[in-house]
Amino acid sequence: MSRIRAAITGVGGYVPDYILTNQELEKMVDTSDEWITTRTGIKERRILKGEGLGTSFMVSKAVKELLDKTRTRPEEIDLIIVATITPDMPFPATANLVADEVGAVNAFSYDLAAACSGFLYALTTGAKFIEAGTYKKVIVAGGDKMSSIINYKDRTTCVIFGDGAGAVLLEPNYEDLGLIDSILRSDGSGAVYLNMKAGGSRIPASHASVDANLHYVFQDGQPVFKFAVTKMAEVAAEIAERNHLSGEDIDWLVPHQANKRIIDATAARIGLNSDKVMMNIERYGNTTAGTLPLLLWDYEGQLKKGDNLIFAAFGGGFTWGASYLRWAYDGIHFTRKTNF
Ligand code: UT7
Repeated sequence: MSRIRAAITGVGGYVPDYILTNQELEKMVDTSDEWITTRTGIKERRILKGEGLGTSFMVSKAVKELLDKTRTRPEEIDLIIVATITPDMPFPATANLVADEVGAVNAFSYDLAAACSGFLYALTTGAKFIEAGTYKKVIVAGGDKMSSIINYKDRTTCVIFGDGAGAVLLEPNYEDLGLIDSILRSDGSGAVYLNMKAGGSRIPASHASVDANLHYVFQDGQPVFKFAVTKMAEVAAEIAERNHLSGEDIDWLVPHQANKRIIDATAARIGLNSDKVMMNIERYGNTTAGTLPLLLWDYEGQLKKGDNLIFAAFGGGFTWGASYLRWAYDGIHFTRKTNF
C-alpha cells in the first residue's frame, strides 16, 4: 500500500461584513488611496464589529461551513488546530472554544502561534497526525481579528491589516495527493522589528502599558519587507527545486498576503506568471493566519485534482516557510465520490 498523505478535502471561510476602504482610512490618518495601493496592493479590508466577538467567532463560522460542505458530522473530528496571534483570551485556547461552538465533542484542540506563517505551521503539524495513521479527520484553521491589536492612529500599520478566518479538513489519501513537503523556519532575532510588546508575561497589562500604546502591533516596515521578500522567495524556490518542479509544473502559488510587491517577487523567483498566483490582498488586506486558507476559499472553484500548489509565508517571529501540496479534488461543489 502506498504511503498515507494528508489531503485537503474541503475548505471553509469567513470574512466579516464591514468593509473598511482606503477612502475611509484617508479620513482617519494621514494617508491616501494612491499610497496604500501602490505600496501594498490593498484596496479594502474587513473588520469584525460587535461587542464580545473574538477570533473564535470567525473561525467557528469557517469551520461550520467546512463541515457543511464536506458533509462531515462534528463528532467525527479528531483534532482542531487554530493558528492565531489574536486568541479570544490568553487561555483557554481559541481552538477549545471553536470545538465547543461547532460541537466537535470528540476532538482535542489547541492553538498555534506563528503569526503570518501560522497556517503553514499548523498545516504541516496537522498533516503529521494523518501521515502517522493516528487520526482520520483533522481541521486546520487560521484566523485573526487584527483590528483588536491595531492602533487606528498609526498609519504605518492600520492600512495593512484586516480580519478573517479560513479552515481546511485534512484526511488520509492513498493516491499520492495531499501535503508532499514542507520547509519551516524561524529566527527570533526578528522580534525587534515586528511585535506586540505588552499583554504577555514580560509586560502584563497595566495603565502604563496601555498609555504607552504597547498593546498594538509594532512594525518597522522596511527591514521586515527586506527579510520577507528575500526569505519568502528563497524558501519557495528551495521547495520547488528539491521537488524537481519548474515554473511549468506549478499550477498555483498560494502566497501570504502581506504586500503585493513581496508576492510578485516570490512568483518571479519561481518562474510563475501572475495568472498562476492566488491573490485577494486587494479585498482583505493582511489577515495574518487567515490569508492562506482564505485564498483557498476564494480559489477553490478553479482548483483541479492533481494541481501542484506551492504555499509560501513570512511573518512575525520571524517565521517563514513553504509547502508543496497536490490538490485532491475538482471544483467547489465537493461531493464525496472517492474513499479518501
Ligand atoms: O505579514 C507580516 C510580515 N509583514 C510584511 O511582510 C510587511 C513588510 N513591509 C511592507 O510591506 C512595507 O514596508 C510597508 C507597506 C509596511 C511600508 O511600505 P514601504 O515602501 O516600506 O514604506 P516605508 O515604511 O519606507 O515608508 C515610506 C514613507 C515614509 O515617509 P518618509 O519617511 O519617506 O517621509 C512613511 O512615513 O511612507 C510613509 N508612510 C505612509 N504614507 C502614507 C508610511 N505609511 C504610510 C501611509 N500612508 N499609510
